[in-house]
Amino acid sequence: LSHLFFTYQGIPYPVTMCTSETFKALDAFEARSDDIVLASYPKCGSNWILHIISELMFADSKQKYDYPEFPVLECGDPEKYQRMKQFPSPRILATHLHYDKLPGSIFKNKAKILVIFRNPKDTAVSFFHFHNDVPDIPSYGSWDDFFRQFMKGQVSWGSYFDFAINWNKHLDDENVMFILYEDLRENLATGIKRIAEFFGFSPSGEQIQTISARSTFHAMRAKSQETHGAVGPFLFRKGEVGDWKNLFSETQNQEMDEKFKECLAGTALGTKLKY
Ligand code: PPS
Repeated sequence: LSHLFFTYQGIPYPVTMCTSETFKALDAFEARSDDIVLASYPKCGSNWILHIISELMFADSKQKYDYPEFPVLECGDPEKYQRMKQFPSPRILATHLHYDKLPGSIFKNKAKILVIFRNPKDTAVSFFHFHNDVPDIPSYGSWDDFFRQFMKGQVSWGSYFDFAINWNKHLDDENVMFILYEDLRENLATGIKRIAEFFGFSPSGEQIQTISARSTFHAMRAKSQETHGAVGPFLFRKGEVGDWKNLFSETQNQEMDEKFKECLAGTALGTKLKY
């Protein structure tokens, strides 16, 4: 599948979604201090958090966040950043980029960044199914093939582990907060409250309950065709913690545990990630 990727500054990206022209234009992107930045490796729950933030933004009205552009910052045509100058604040910017690949204006202008992590085993399984379920994107021959490429970082947006190592150094930075997919899955209302506080939203207790009910996996999956079109049911596939046990062999499990230890042992993230 190597012809389906192009490498930009050392990281493979899907040719169908990213171009080097857009990356060059991104360098000049002007972030605002009230931009809401959501950083995550693919398949870690970005659409879930995007939905929660849109609900928080419009908790007092029937409106929904209107995405004037594809929500992933680095995807699209190079002119999108010019158009984005016209968008009202706050803008939601989702990204799968490593910390050091983000445009400098995000840090200079002190936009708040929420980093979403999910354990690498479920992330890999979700990524594999997405490739093999969605008709328009390339399939892998087998789970074993995908696993090998994932471990080498030869998948879209590169290595999960490099993403984690890179962001892990900045989780205590000013204006950065991280959230775990698994914690959100365990206690949605608490997670929503943390997200609201971080971005300065003040929902009532009743609003938190309403948003929680609308943000469960089942509620979102039921509306997924309406919200995300034909890809919806593939994007909202299973929403579970521990689905990796259905695909990982014992050898693969050990290999990933080793890699994980090598990259994150002893760090706050390394001790907090759950399977
Ligand atoms: S993408 O393609 O990178 O933008 O995918 P992303 O949205 O980041 O991640 C998709 C996975 O998140 C799961 N998801 C949820 N889990 C629990 N609750 C809710 N509400 C929810 N919404 C999305 C989604 O099901 C994908 O995981 P898998 O394991 O494939 O089901």
